[in-house]
Amino acid sequence: MPAVVVVGAQWGDEGKGKATDQLGARVDYVVKFNGGNNAGHTVVVGKEKYALHLLPSGILSPGVVPVIGNGVVVDLEVLFRELDDLAARGVDTSRLLVSAAAHVIPSYNRTLDKVTERFLGKRQIGTTGRGIGPTYADKMSRVGIRVQDLFDASILRQKVEGALTQKNQMLVKVYNRRAVDPEEIVAELLGYADRLRSMVADTALLLNQALDAGKTLLFEAGQATMLDVDHGTYPFVTSSSATAGGACTGSGVGPTRIDRVVGVTKAYTTRVGEGPFPTELLGEEGTFLREAGGEYGVTTGRPRRTGWYDAVVARYASRVNGLTDLVMTKLDVLTGLEKVPVCVAYDVDGVRHTEMPPDQSAFHHATPVYEELDGWTEDITGARSFGELPPAAQRYVLAVEEMSGCRISAIGVGADRSATIVRHDLLG
Ligand code: GDP
Ligand code: IMO
Ligand code: MG
Repeated sequence: MPAVVVVGAQWGDEGKGKATDQLGARVDYVVKFNGGNNAGHTVVVGKEKYALHLLPSGILSPGVVPVIGNGVVVDLEVLFRELDDLAARGVDTSRLLVSAAAHVIPSYNRTLDKVTERFLGKRQIGTTGRGIGPTYADKMSRVGIRVQDLFDASILRQKVEGALTQKNQMLVKVYNRRAVDPEEIVAELLGYADRLRSMVADTALLLNQALDAGKTLLFEAGQATMLDVDHGTYPFVTSSSATAGGACTGSGVGPTRIDRVVGVTKAYTTRVGEGPFPTELLGEEGTFLREAGGEYGVTTGRPRRTGWYDAVVARYASRVNGLTDLVMTKLDVLTGLEKVPVCVAYDVDGVRHTEMPPDQSAFHHATPVYEELDGWTEDITGARSFGELPPAAQRYVLAVEEMSGCRISAIGVGADRSATIVRHDLLG
């Protein structure tokens, strides 16, 4: 099975990092294709816990070549800090490759991310403040700075000056901030060039050659379907293509070469930041899910909003990604509930919607229609086969599978790498 894409099927933090890490021993390349250090992936290996932001989760598997694809936006300070932190913990990071075509996040875009949010006031997105939106905006406006620009000081200077001509006007006249000196930015970026040089490659060429040679590639998405700039709950989204199509544009590998698309979903739902969330629970049940699931952001530490599983979202994710498999994580968190509601449709002003309403206002007004499934009280964290799950937990998985329109191939019953029930091999 040469090329597998792993995407988030909800609003992020589904456990993509754990899913990717688990397949690590059996893949040759792990490619991050979108987003940047707005992501936060937790991987637990025995007593060790790793929080990865910019680096692909495959970096923890010996033998894997981790790749930062052209679709990623790279904060170089974060890149080197993360590499140093892992090296200090004995992780070999020497195989990392970075696309020459990836864009870098200059410090002025972190500033702009924060001030634009402040100016949005009540309409703010609740971004991670990492400069992601302004950097993708620069890319589309053709004033971005790419990794390859760092190796030609004269080109870099021209590009930074070009970008700042307009941005300084905005910073000073609109946002009442200090203008940025282009020379400071040039010096800051050139300061990373030497260390970066040996990691930089034509990753699109290398990945296609790896496929030709029969290697196995895993494409790991940051963020998720409902945060995708095209298919998510716009404008409450991130600024990149987090759905399966992004794996192609963000890596330079064509769609005909992708064999499988795996969506990762929690057994319930969470969201960080602003925006609509029909199954959100604001009372005790929400607090239960947050505490039982440890639902606090890996990147910003913000408490995550929590709610029941939404099968309308799952069906939508299956469709826009062309999912072949679902991985359901955190089933263990639901243990102890007498009844577990699952959203099967929305009521919008008296009209029942079984598919995602196409307009934003309808989704904002959607009231979930629930089906109540039986809960279980037995500890399931030690289960390693489907048959070892209590009958009610088995029924929950089977019912949700039926409602979601995609087979559930693996089930997470704990944070550790080993705490997974495999029903269908994701690489087989
Ligand atoms: P990602 O951004 O999709 O990689 O997910 P995060 O790492 O942000 O959030 C997922 C959280 O759930 C992390 O703390 C994981 O360690 C944890 N986790 C993943 N799978 C499971 C599971 O099956 N059970 C439990 N209890 N925790 C899990
Ligand atoms: P992983 O990869 C959850 C959310 C932010 C905000 C919106 C836009 O760990 O699943 P941005 O900084 O990207 O411009 O913020 O997107 N967001 C995430 N939420 N998990 C993530 O990544 C996220 N990355 C961004 O909270 O609402
Ligand atoms: Mg996360």
